[in-house]
Amino acid sequence: MINEKVVTAIGTPNIAFIKYWGKRDYTGLNTPNNSSISMTLDEKLSTRTSVVFSKKLNRDMLYINGSEEVMVGEKIPEKSAYLKRILDHMRRLAGVKENALIVSENSFPSSAGIASSASGAATLVFVLSNALQLDKKSREMSVIARQISGSACRSMFGGIVRWNKGMKEDGSDSYAEQAFKDTHWPELIDIIAIVDPSKKRVSSSVGHADTVKTSVLYPLRPKFAEEGIVTVEKAIAGKDIDALSKAIMRDSNNMHATMLDTWPPIMYLTDASKDIIYGIHELNDANGKRIAGYTFDAGPNAHIITTEKNRKKIMDMLSGIRGVRQTIEGHMGTGPRLLESKDSLIDEKTLTPKRVQGKMQ
Ligand code: PMV
Repeated sequence: MINEKVVTAIGTPNIAFIKYWGKRDYTGLNTPNNSSISMTLDEKLSTRTSVVFSKKLNRDMLYINGSEEVMVGEKIPEKSAYLKRILDHMRRLAGVKENALIVSENSFPSSAGIASSASGAATLVFVLSNALQLDKKSREMSVIARQISGSACRSMFGGIVRWNKGMKEDGSDSYAEQAFKDTHWPELIDIIAIVDPSKKRVSSSVGHADTVKTSVLYPLRPKFAEEGIVTVEKAIAGKDIDALSKAIMRDSNNMHATMLDTWPPIMYLTDASKDIIYGIHELNDANGKRIAGYTFDAGPNAHIITTEKNRKKIMDMLSGIRGVRQTIEGHMGTGPRLLESKDSLIDEKTLTPKRVQGKMQ
């Protein structure tokens, strides 16, 4: 018997220092060709998700950022189909039959150009696991989150997180684990420079497949990335921003080189992204050692990894770049956690999403 209580959780995105690009499996397992390592961000950018399972619900309902997603029928979109599969899988594990109402909100506008899929998927798996009383360890939850969005598995933990690629065909050993606690190097920050908030032209799921299929450079990438992880872990252990910056810049450049080498080419970086790349190299040269490194996901917005004491130098450099529209400062986060019932997004009496003045609370 499920207890018909609303459960609410908060989770956050992560930024990869050594990146995941290219899968071994395209049937939904999302097993990668290389391991990756990332920093989980704090709650300045977050996803809040509430869920309730109840006999009173006559179908599954999912609301994301205020609009209802199609969860049944033939026209079910790819994203909802994945979510539905995960929901059914977790419900089966718990032996629960009741329908679910899920309400999820991002604290950051999707127009900010920050990928919300990792924090969304990680928070969903975390909240479902708690609502269904599955008592899952974070590692097991990371295996489930990975199947919604690969990079989401790293958001199951706080601090610095490594996603081990694994070897098994069923993906059971492709999980994330914490490599360093969030308290290890709290001065490490991610200054996000938004240069273009619009939706990316090529989705990451199409990109992962096309690069592996067509890039002649790509076969070199998995080994390079595995070596990068060793370098990054050593740099973080020694709180060495010079070595860390070099490793993350080289990895980002390497991944974007394989994207450009994809046929037809995938180009996420814009002129403003390139101005930031030059700006960081000039700043590092002027300092006589590296004080910051850039990294770019499947989009043009820069994540500048640096330490708090160098914040002003970075901000001054960014203020001279015309294409930078907004900056957001991310700190080391602690991973997903449960919230109190007052923070719920669901009205427990009516089993409907809460709304304030026509907007989600
Ligand atoms: O998790 P996906 O399928 O959206 O892929 C994300 C890949 C990158 O963001 C480009 C790199 C990474 O490791 O996060």
